[in-house]
Amino acid sequence: MTAATSWPRIAGLAYGGDYNPEQWPRETWDEDVRLMREAGVTLVSVGIFSWAMLEPREGEYDFAWMDDLLDLLHANGVAVDLGTPTVAPPAWFFATYPEARVVTRDGVTLGAGSRGMASHSHPAYQDASARIAGALARRYGDHPAVVMWHVHNEYGVPVGEDYSPAAVDAWRVWLRTRYVSLDALNAAWGTAFWGQRYGEWEHVGAPAAAPTTLNPAQRLDFARFTDDQLRACFSREKAAIREHADQPVTTNFMAHQSWNVDLWKWAALVDIVSDDHYLWSPDPDAHVLLALAADLTRSVAGGNPWILMEHSTSGVNWQGRNISKRPGEMRRNSLAHLGRGADAILFFQWRASRSGAEKFHSAMLPHAGTESRVWREVVELGGHLRDLADVRGSRVRADVAVLYDWESLWAQELDWRPSEDVQFRERMRAFYERLWRDHVTVDFAHPGHDLSAYKLVVAPASYLLTRDSAANLTRYVEAGGTLLVNFFSAIVDENDAVHDGGFGAPLKDALGLTVEEFLPMREGDTAAVRWTGGETVDLPVDVWQDHLALAGAETVAEYLSGPAAGKAAITRHEHGEGVGWYVGTRLDVDALATVMRAVYADAGVEISGLPATLEVVTRHGADADFVVAINHGDDAALLPVAGVNMLTGVETDGELEVPGGGVAVVRTA
Ligand code: GAL
Repeated sequence: MTAATSWPRIAGLAYGGDYNPEQWPRETWDEDVRLMREAGVTLVSVGIFSWAMLEPREGEYDFAWMDDLLDLLHANGVAVDLGTPTVAPPAWFFATYPEARVVTRDGVTLGAGSRGMASHSHPAYQDASARIAGALARRYGDHPAVVMWHVHNEYGVPVGEDYSPAAVDAWRVWLRTRYVSLDALNAAWGTAFWGQRYGEWEHVGAPAAAPTTLNPAQRLDFARFTDDQLRACFSREKAAIREHADQPVTTNFMAHQSWNVDLWKWAALVDIVSDDHYLWSPDPDAHVLLALAADLTRSVAGGNPWILMEHSTSGVNWQGRNISKRPGEMRRNSLAHLGRGADAILFFQWRASRSGAEKFHSAMLPHAGTESRVWREVVELGGHLRDLADVRGSRVRADVAVLYDWESLWAQELDWRPSEDVQFRERMRAFYERLWRDHVTVDFAHPGHDLSAYKLVVAPASYLLTRDSAANLTRYVEAGGTLLVNFFSAIVDENDAVHDGGFGAPLKDALGLTVEEFLPMREGDTAAVRWTGGETVDLPVDVWQDHLALAGAETVAEYLSGPAAGKAAITRHEHGEGVGWYVGTRLDVDALATVMRAVYADAGVEISGLPATLEVVTRHGADADFVVAINHGDDAALLPVAGVNMLTGVETDGELEVPGGGVAVVRTA
C-alpha cells in the first residue's frame, strides 16, 4: 500500500470550506469573496452537489456559471478544490434510468430528491459519473484556480450496501473472481450449516432480508464487495480526471464515523487524504473521539499531512439535539485536528443555506451575518492559521499503535454474537481515551502492518484476526515488543469461522493462553477483579468474563466475583524478548489506568503528570518542533515548555499557562 503524498499548490495552512454559490444570486458571490479575503480563506470546495446545474439535460453542459465562479475565486486569491457532483445525480438521471436506483436490504427502492441514491453497480451511473468527471477535468484541468479534485462525497454515506438487480449481478461476478469454484465458496462460507450448499452460481443471492439470521461469511463478503464497488467508482472517476488534469485527487473520508469503507485500502488510491469530522452532541467529551478520528486519519495517510475537509463552526442539523459549540470550542477543535497532522482546516460550509435540508446547520458565515460570535471566531481562526504557516509539513511521532481493522469491525457487528454489550466502537473508545488521558500519542495500524517501530501495540477489538496477522503480532512480541490484547480477540478467521484450536488459538504463543469458554454477564451486573501487579487494588468490571486456559501466562488479576470468580482475569506473559498482556473482561477508562501503568512500564512508554484535560501533541519539523496544547478544562493549566507561543508571539522560558478553554502552539528551538 502506498501512502498519499502530494499536496495542492497553496502556501501555508489552507483555510476555508464547502462553497455552494449556486444557491445564491450572482451579487452575493462578490460579497462572498470579499468576506473570504477578510477571513483569510485560501481554499474552497465547489461543485459537490452541482450536477443538475452543470448538465441540465443528459449530454448538455452549462459551464458558464462555473467559468465565472472559478475566475472570480482566482481573481480573489482563493484556490479551488473542484468537486465531481456524482453523489447527487439530477432528476433526469433517475427518470431515464429508474433501474439505477439503490435497493435496500429490505427490498425498498430508494427514491430521488435527496442525495446518494444511485446504484454504484449500475452501468448507467458508472458511465454518467465518469462522463461528468471527465467533462469537468477537460474544461478546468488547466484552470489556474483549481489546485485539487474532490471526487464524490463521503463514499458509503448515506448509501453503502445496495441490493438492486445490477448489484446482485456484479456480486456474482465478484464472487467468481474471488472463489473461482463453487466448492471454494461453499467451503469458505461453511454452507454445510443449515443446508445452504450452492450447486449453481446463479443461485447465490445477496444477503437480503431473510426469515432469520443470514450466513455471516456471506454478509462479510458482501461488505467487502460493497467497499470494492465504491472504490471502483472512485477509481473510474479519478481515471477520467487524469485524462485531462494532473492536480491531486481526493475524496473525503469519515474516519471512525462511517463504517463501510476500509480506509487502509482507500488511502492507497487517493493522492491526498482528507477527512470530515462532526462532534457527536450527546457526548460531552466528544473531543476525545475527535482526536481518535484525527489520529486514525493521519495513520491511514501514512503519517503524511492531511486535509480536514469538513467540520462545523457550531451545531450541525442532523442529530437529535444539535448542540451549538461554546465560545472557543471551534478553535480548540480546529487546533486539535492540526496538532494531529491536519495542514488544512475546512468547514461545511462557507455561507449558511436559506433553503433545503441543511438550513439549520452552522456555517462560517451564519444567517446572522458578520455581526456574530461565529463570524468573529472564524476571522480569528483565519489569523491563527496564517501565524502557524510554518507548522505545515511537520510530522507527529508515536511510540504506541492501536490496532484498527475495518474487516474485524464488519464481522464483529454481525448478528448473534455472545453479548450485544461487546462493541468494537465502545472498546476502541475506552482504550483510546485511556491513552488520550495519559497523554500518550498513538498511531493506528492494521494488525498485518510492520509494527517494529512501536514500543507498545494495543488491540482493543480484534475479533477477526487472520493467522497471518496473528503470526505478525507474535513475531512483534518475540522481537521485544509489548502487546496488549483485550477480550473477544483472535476469535475468527477471514471467513468468520472460529479458529482451529479454539478462541484465541493463533495468539497462544504470544499470550500464553487460550480462551476455554466465554462467560458473558447479564445486563447491569457488575463484578470485581483483584489486581496484584505491584500494588493490590480491586477494580470494577462488567459485561464479560473469560474462562481462560493458561498456557504459561502469569495471573496479574483474578476475578473476585462473577461467573469466573476465582479464575485469572488479567495476565502477563513473557515470550521471546517481549511481553504479551491479556485483559479478559471489560474495564472502564478509570479502571484501565491501573492496568495501563503496568503495561507502559513493560513497554518503556513514559507518561506525563499533566492534567488529564490538557491535550498536548507535538508536531516535529525539520528545524523546529511545534507543541500544540488545548485546554479542555475550565481552569488554567501549566505546561512545561520553552519557546515562542506562535498565537501570541510571547516567549516562555519553561512554563506556559494555558487558560481554561484556551489553546497555544509553542515553537521550540
Ligand atoms: C457531511 C456532508 C456535507 C454536509 C454535512 C452536514 O457529512 O459531507 O455535505 O451534509 O455533512 O453536517
